[in-house]
Amino acid sequence: MTRTPSSSATGEAPAFRGASLELSGVSLAYGSFEVVREVGFTVEPGTTTCVIGPSGSGKSTLLRGINRLHEPKSGEVLLAGEPASAMAPERLRQRIGLVFQHFNLFPDHTALDNVALAPWKVKGLPRGQARERAARALADVGLAERAGHRPRDLSGGQQQRVAIARALAMEPEVMLFDEATSALDPELVKGVLTLMAGLGERGMTMVVVTHEMGFARRAADQVVFMDEGEVVEKGTPDEIFGNPRSPRLRRFLAEVL
Ligand SMILES: Nc1ncnc2c1ncn2[C@@H]1O[C@H](COP(=O)(O)OP(=O)(O)OP(=O)(O)O)[C@@H](O)[C@H]1O
Ligand SMILES: [Mg+2]
Repeated sequence: MTRTPSSSATGEAPAFRGASLELSGVSLAYGSFEVVREVGFTVEPGTTTCVIGPSGSGKSTLLRGINRLHEPKSGEVLLAGEPASAMAPERLRQRIGLVFQHFNLFPDHTALDNVALAPWKVKGLPRGQARERAARALADVGLAERAGHRPRDLSGGQQQRVAIARALAMEPEVMLFDEATSALDPELVKGVLTLMAGLGERGMTMVVVTHEMGFARRAADQVVFMDEGEVVEKGTPDEIFGNPRSPRLRRFLAEVL
């Protein structure tokens, strides 16, 4: 599927400049327990890769390895062709945003302040500029009207949007999502998935760990199936869902679809 970031469907919303992400031979371990083995795949700029697989297959660990919250044991991650291992971890995490299942917003801060905090404190922007950028990021996720609300006065879906805005405010080149909708009430899931698909359409490079097979089918350019720490199969959504080759993937799909 090819995408036009300036698609008229997205109106005036500006395009993102997603960078490429290349993984090769990435392995991660907890002590001597290897949970991700020799993982390799390439995410082209402005495309979405969905990572699917059973619980415990190493998906979260892999995402944490990409932005070095968990240091890979071996292998290489290239961001826009540059080795992630050579970057200061704080800088790497500004360039690769991560959105988790649990959004951890500061309860006493407004949505705007929650989003402005990192550009101000981490990126060192003057406070006024950080707040302007935060306001843009909130508008990006459809929450311009809620900027002054505290998290308790927002729905779970809106809180997750604030968390996404918080990541966007750092102007990342790649966004990683780990089960970003699995803590949400069912009626709120769709809105957040639509927002994520919209970011992809606007040119963000994304790696999305998800149990939402409908989203993977619709929004992914590439689907990576992991089992027991390894990439078992990768391909287009049509290939993965329409013509699964390995028995492990067939078994997984039979269980989840
Ligand atoms: N802090 C930790 N210490 C030791 N082992 C861990 C730790 N975190 C995860 N593991 C193990 O690593 C393996 C991979 O876990 P991971 O959380 O990456 O899986 P996952 O694919 O994200 O699963 P899920 O779909 O349930 O989120 C599992 O066997 C898990 O038990
Ligand atoms: Mg996980």
